[in-house]
Parts: sequence; C-alpha cells; structure tokens
Amino acid sequence: MCGIVGYVGSQEATPIILDGLGRLEYRGYDSAGVAVLQQANIEVRRDVGKLINLRHRVYQQPIHGSIGIGHTRWATHGVPAEHNAHPHVSMNGDFVVVHNGIVENYQELREELTAEGVTFTSETDTEVIVQLVERLAANGVHDLTEAARQTVKHLRGAHAIVLMSRHQPDRLVAIRIGNAGGVAIGVGEQENYVASDMPAILEYTRRMVFLETRQIATITADGITLQTLDGAPVEAVIHNIPYDPVSAVKGEYKHFMQKEIYEQPRSITDTIRGRIDFEHQTVHIPELNLTAERAQSLTRMVTVACGTSYYSGLVGKFFIEHMARLNVEVDYGSEYRYRDPILDANTAVLAITQSGETVDTLAALEEAREKKSLIWSIVNAIGSQAMRVADGYITMNAGPEIGVASTKAFTTSIVDQYLLALYLGQLRGTLKPDVLHRYTQDIARLPNLVGQTLELENHIEELARLFYKASNFLYLGRGINYPIALEGALKLKEISYIHAEGYPAGEMKHGPIALIDEQMPVLAIALKDSVYDKMISQIEQSKARGGKVIAVATEGDEFTSRVTWPKA
Ligand code: F6R
Repeated sequence: MCGIVGYVGSQEATPIILDGLGRLEYRGYDSAGVAVLQQANIEVRRDVGKLINLRHRVYQQPIHGSIGIGHTRWATHGVPAEHNAHPHVSMNGDFVVVHNGIVENYQELREELTAEGVTFTSETDTEVIVQLVERLAANGVHDLTEAARQTVKHLRGAHAIVLMSRHQPDRLVAIRIGNAGGVAIGVGEQENYVASDMPAILEYTRRMVFLETRQIATITADGITLQTLDGAPVEAVIHNIPYDPVSAVKGEYKHFMQKEIYEQPRSITDTIRGRIDFEHQTVHIPELNLTAERAQSLTRMVTVACGTSYYSGLVGKFFIEHMARLNVEVDYGSEYRYRDPILDANTAVLAITQSGETVDTLAALEEAREKKSLIWSIVNAIGSQAMRVADGYITMNAGPEIGVASTKAFTTSIVDQYLLALYLGQLRGTLKPDVLHRYTQDIARLPNLVGQTLELENHIEELARLFYKASNFLYLGRGINYPIALEGALKLKEISYIHAEGYPAGEMKHGPIALIDEQMPVLAIALKDSVYDKMISQIEQSKARGGKVIAVATEGDEFTSRVTWPKA
C-alpha cells in the first residue's frame, strides 16, 4: 500500500520522513523515495526494495533541509523501477509531488502535455499532476495552493496529494479528493507534519487535523490553513489522539471494521496498481507464473474458499467465464475434500483466502496437488501458507484486515479475479484489444465509485434505525448480484445478529415468497442491468405481500425509488 509522509519546521526533514515511512512498513511496499528542499533546490533520493536501501542511498548522498516529502509505493508488476518511485519532480525541477490514488484520465493529460513539449521521466499516472502544476506556474499561477486547486480540476478519480515548490520554500500543500486514503496533518510547535496514516507521525505529535474530501491544506511551520476546493475557508479542528498502539492504527474510526470499510478505495487502488499497463492496455501478473501456452491448455477452473471468500469466488466466476471463456466451478473449501472431486492437469484450482491459513481451503489445495492440478491462490497475508504452496498467486494488497468480519478483502479479491479474467483473456486470446481497453478503463474508475458509495453512510444509518429491530431479512439479487446478496446477508448475520438469507430473486416464486409479510424486510439489488425489469417485478411482488423493500439502485433511478419503501 502506498504511504505519504511530509514535514515542515526547523529540524532536519530527512530523518523524520524516513522514520515515518519506516512506521508504515507494515503496509508493505516495494519502492520508496524522499524529496527535500536543500537550499533552493529540490533534491530527490529514491530506491526500490526495502526502506534500508533508501536509507543507504541517503547515507551515501545526504540531503539537508527542513522541509520535505516522502512516499512508499506498491508497484507489483515487473521489477519496480526507481524512475517510477515517488516523489516525482516536474520537468524544470521546480515542483515535486507524492500521491495516493489513480489519475483515471492520465493518458489524455499525458498526451496533451507531451504535445506541448513536456518530457516525462516515469510511466506513472502521478507525474501528470506535477507537470500540470508547472504548466500553470509558467502561465502565471505562482501560488502553490492555487496551482494545486486548479490542477486537481483536471484530474478524474480519488486522490491524496502532497506538493512542494522551490519557489515557496516555506510550505507543503496537501489535498484530499474522495477516498483514496486519508490525509492527517500533525500539529507541532513551530513545525507541522502530514501523513497518509497517523502512525507515521504520532511519535512527534498527538494533535491531528484530518482533511475531509475536497479540502486543501497549506501547511507551513507556523500554521495550517484549510479551504475547500472552491476556496471557502474551513476551520481546522484539532483532535487529540491518545497514544496507544491500537488507537494509533484505528485513527478516527470507531472500530477496525469501519476503518477497513473506508480503506476500500485505497486498497482497491493498490490492488489494481502496477498490474494494468494503461498505456499499452495490457495486464501483467508475473506472480502467476503462467505462460500463454499453459493458459490455453486449461479446460476448467475450480475455485475453493470459505465464507466471504467463497462468495467472492462466486462473483469472480462471472468475469472468468465471460472474459476468458473458461468454465469455473466454485466450491466450499470445507466440503471439497469430502467428495472425491474430479481433477486433472488441465484444471487450475484457485484458493481465495484473506488469511492464507484457513485449514479447509488449504486442505482443498492439497487435494488439488495430489491430483496434479495447477494451483493458484489469491491471498492478502503475504508469506502465508496458501501463497507458499501455490504454483502462482495474486495478492490482494488490502493491508492488514484486523476486523473479524471480512470487508476490504472481499472487494480486493473480486478485483483480483477481474484482473485474472483479463489476464487469462489476454493469454488465451478471448478478449479483443478494444474490449480489453474498455474493461481496463472501467476498473480504473472503481476506487472513486466505491468512495462515492461510502458517502451514503448517513442515509444508510437512517435506514438501519428503521430496521434494527427486525428478526429476519431477505437479500435478493440476480446474476452477479446474487453472490453480493449472499455476502450482504452474511454480514447482517454476523454483525447485527439478525437472521438473514441471500436468495436468487428468480427463485422466490418457487416457494420462499410465502415468507414475505410486513415482518420480513427485503433488500433488493435492482441495478439498471439486463435483469432490471425482473428485479422490479420481484420488488412489486414483495410489496404486494406487505414486505418493506429497500432497493440498492442505480443513481438517478427514479422509478425504483418510487416503488420501494422507505423513500431514498
Ligand atoms: C466473514 C468472514 C469469514 C471469512 C472466512 C474465510 O465476514 O470473515 O467468512 O471470509 O472465514 O477466511 P479466509 O478468507 O481468511 O480464508
């Protein structure tokens, strides 16, 4: 996962930044960098691999200055390269940036800037940000805060950005748009800090200001000025954070589950990052150790998993069958080994497991090994058993999942399967380049869309207040939304202790509809897709029996909002 640290004050910035990056090591990364203003110049040191490599480089070529920014980057495709590591400096060396998020429209911006004569030194999306800032400066926008504000108007997606300029050596500018991870500003005495994650700077101060979405902060040693992106002033509210390791990591959230729900845009970004080459529209998953020949020899895939990971596998089946034209069966790890499954060398067995240590899932892999099948795993815990025993693996890059109920591992493992489907489609020749292009563009939009969905929290809380006394709940969906309904029902059971069933909506008429009355709320996933009309008809049938229906609908779908209850 990517991490950001920045400092402005009177101390040496480099050791503070390196120390902060070290405190983010638990998130995992494979390259890191630091930029410090040394006299009037931006000096950058970057390196791939462990932070010790960067420390070593800084030791050999020290940089001195009292303002700077640093970054740890997760880049999983190929060898992570030094020139792709952050911070990124603008062409004339006047501005420098670190960034978490995906610039969804970076290709257009890059082409535009290249046509104007800008030379890029990395393949990253991030570099367009700093080149845009420099273009604005060349056009007379000399104030860094103003240049940052105008720059982000050009960017699509969710972002956490910190900028530094050699023309205004007293300040850092931080921006948050959407939910590409948070921005915490640490308040000190004649010095201030900024970080993507509080633990990076908690050693230095426990007084924190958190940026909300679409806010911009100008951070100097003397103070912090907050504004909205529209320029309206915002009062900086300082939170005093108690120092214990748990609340340090939990940050501003009530509990880990809430934190992990909110981490999804960032985790999804980290899962996509580096695996899609947006410039050439290709997918790279070298950890899968798969040749085109082997991919073409496969006749079948079996996904084995438990609980939430099993439901994730049911979602992934839709992608893999559709894009890679490979037949997929999905089975519970806990059932698989008890029924002498038919497996052969042309079958790939995929285990999905957040922990990588679920015994039933591991046992299914053993069965696959004995029967000479190809073994793959999708795991979150690096170095876990499921990762070690597999012939190839894909990591979720979700960061530690501490909450007992799985959240971000569900969505990131679905993203992994989407990438797997694209990759297999590419290797098996089942995806035309223009279709692959469309799918890669779609997935790049996902982190931002998830962030927008999280903004519905207050509305969802109102609904929860209306229904919290229910004893039973039905979750209905069709097609790919059926496993989503299953996962929703599982979450309600384990977190709210309300009995809930996920059901394929089309099967309701074959019996279970008899259960629906005013005591049985129904959550219907009724998106504007190919089964929309059928879902609407299902909602109407449920209502005819007195059921109260909450619809998960496509934004702007007035019709669904009219037929459901209560009004959204
Ligand atoms: C539900 C949940 C569990 C896990 C299951 C598998 O919220 O967390 O159902 O998904 O125990 O765990 P992993 O993915 O670690 O194999």
